Amino acid sequence: MQAATAVSTAPVAGSRNGAFPAPSKRHAPPRRRLEARAATEEKEEYDLNQKIDTGKLIDAAGAGRSMFSPGWLTQLNQLWGGKSNVPVANAKPEDIQDLLGGALFKALFKWMVESGPVYLLPTGPISSFLVISDPECAKHVLRASDNPSRPIYEKGLVAEVSQFLFGEGFAITGGEQWRVRRKAVGPALHRGYLEVMLDRVFGESALHLNKKLEVAAASGEPIDMEACFSQLTLDVIGKAVFNYDFDALNNNTPVIQAVYTALKETETRATDLLPYWKYPLINLFVPRQRKAAAAVELIRQTTEELIAKCKAMVDAEEAASFEEGYINDADPSVLRFLIASREEVGSQQLRDDLLSMLVAGHETTGSVLTWTLDLLARNPEQMKKAQEEVDRVLAGKSKPNMEDYMALKYCMRCVNESMRLYPHPPVLLRRAMVPDELPGGLTVPQGQDVMISVYNIHRSPAVWDRPDDFLPERFPLDGPVPNEQNTDYKYIPFSGGPRKCVGDQFALMEAVVALAVMIREFDFAPQPGHDPGMTTGATIHTKNGLYMTVAKRRPGGGSSCSGGAGAAAAAAAVGAA
Ligand code: HEM
Repeated sequence: MQAATAVSTAPVAGSRNGAFPAPSKRHAPPRRRLEARAATEEKEEYDLNQKIDTGKLIDAAGAGRSMFSPGWLTQLNQLWGGKSNVPVANAKPEDIQDLLGGALFKALFKWMVESGPVYLLPTGPISSFLVISDPECAKHVLRASDNPSRPIYEKGLVAEVSQFLFGEGFAITGGEQWRVRRKAVGPALHRGYLEVMLDRVFGESALHLNKKLEVAAASGEPIDMEACFSQLTLDVIGKAVFNYDFDALNNNTPVIQAVYTALKETETRATDLLPYWKYPLINLFVPRQRKAAAAVELIRQTTEELIAKCKAMVDAEEAASFEEGYINDADPSVLRFLIASREEVGSQQLRDDLLSMLVAGHETTGSVLTWTLDLLARNPEQMKKAQEEVDRVLAGKSKPNMEDYMALKYCMRCVNESMRLYPHPPVLLRRAMVPDELPGGLTVPQGQDVMISVYNIHRSPAVWDRPDDFLPERFPLDGPVPNEQNTDYKYIPFSGGPRKCVGDQFALMEAVVALAVMIREFDFAPQPGHDPGMTTGATIHTKNGLYMTVAKRRPGGGSSCSGGAGAAAAAAAVGAA
């Protein structure tokens, strides 16, 4: 209810008070080359024309706790779990409990060490996951997911457990429905659009965050940076997808908690022994389900109101030509693009697609920034290098333009390396629609749930040297920005194959710009004795927030407390306090 009020009274898409102040006029801009995409040289192509036959603001508990499998049930599964030639993990009941309790990727790593890069993990009397921690096998499965020419895997369990949130959204549907919608929505994130986002949204929003940090720096009080990033990325995705300013950095919007609660619920459902949530009547009486349903209702209501306003605006305008690279100057959002395209799409489908983007693009980028800052604050040498680069490239400017962004290569590597150590989500789920054989000869029975542990691949000593160390230098500055293709699926933070993230370039740009704007003005020091901890809720979250002390640098570099020295000074100040 609160969100509905907020939406109806707030500036709306295309209005003079909207997120973008430019006058309303539709045009297709000249097609400028966006160097930003140069990052991905060779591109895997999937023919989507081909039809397919088949903080702490956050309450970290989400809607509530999960049930867990009693030990004897999982042991029972182990007895007959070996119906294929895949090794079975020796999962003890307490391990399973850990798995279901939150930081599941940690337990998966332990079993990888014991059982090898592909193993079967029984999770109940008849349920199990085939866990993959090998780049070659991950590549095989990801490339065969919703692939029009090789349809072997589908989203499966992840679609089932998050349907209550995403509905028919293209992030979870499969087959023909997914193909048609991905083809319609993907082009909205075109090069010209990213350029406009860089110009008007990414840098501006980061500067708003700086204002907040300024207050923290003046007071000397530690601030929860995870909460700040969650607010920042909601503001960015709101403007980018809906042309709506949540202004989360200044207002306590309930949408942040709602998104977290809903995502945590999807994770809890994925590991529940008794999927009672499949029965709507029972849900009415279970507090956890009522909480989750309320969260989804709030997100849907917000989305629906924004769509209705945008539709009214487009209908009121004279028909204009819609072509590739379309941008409305006053409202360059994804929503405007989709409505102006006049693609035949039901209102529920449109709502669910946009909601997919809101949810997929918010927490993920927030978590990337959280762990990047944590890593840099704990590694003063790397922080110093990043700040030196920002000072040199921005040369007195408060935010980067496109050319600057392309030159912020070390900052980009810091983000890349942080996404290796903390991938969001840490696991990807698939289900085999037909029997399959993995590279190396292990078999996958039809219907088997598969879990690709991105965390394990990214941390495996068999794949990376010094896997647990933060070494942005491992990705050379004169080489390409790492992705699944140029690392042969050793590095898959945005997944790979046909279901790869549509927002990868958007997210990298947003994260690098925010990082540069922030570390140009401030030094950060971890609060002594504070352990952020780790849990999951689709992304890797801290358990206790990321509390940091912030100290102001002199703008434009050459500061008295730049880089490592500044961080050390800030840390000393905290120690003294
Ligand atoms: C650093 C931030 C981000 C990370 C780490 C990330 C990660 C991912 C991953 C791993 C997937 C694939 C999941 C799978 O294979 O099962 C995915 C899909 C997706 N992402 Fe992102 N994402 C990020 C930012 C964004 C942004 C900013 C947007 C929107 C603007 C977005 C929209 C989507 C959508 C719509 C999908 C579903 C695509 C499909 O199934 O066809 N993501 N993301």
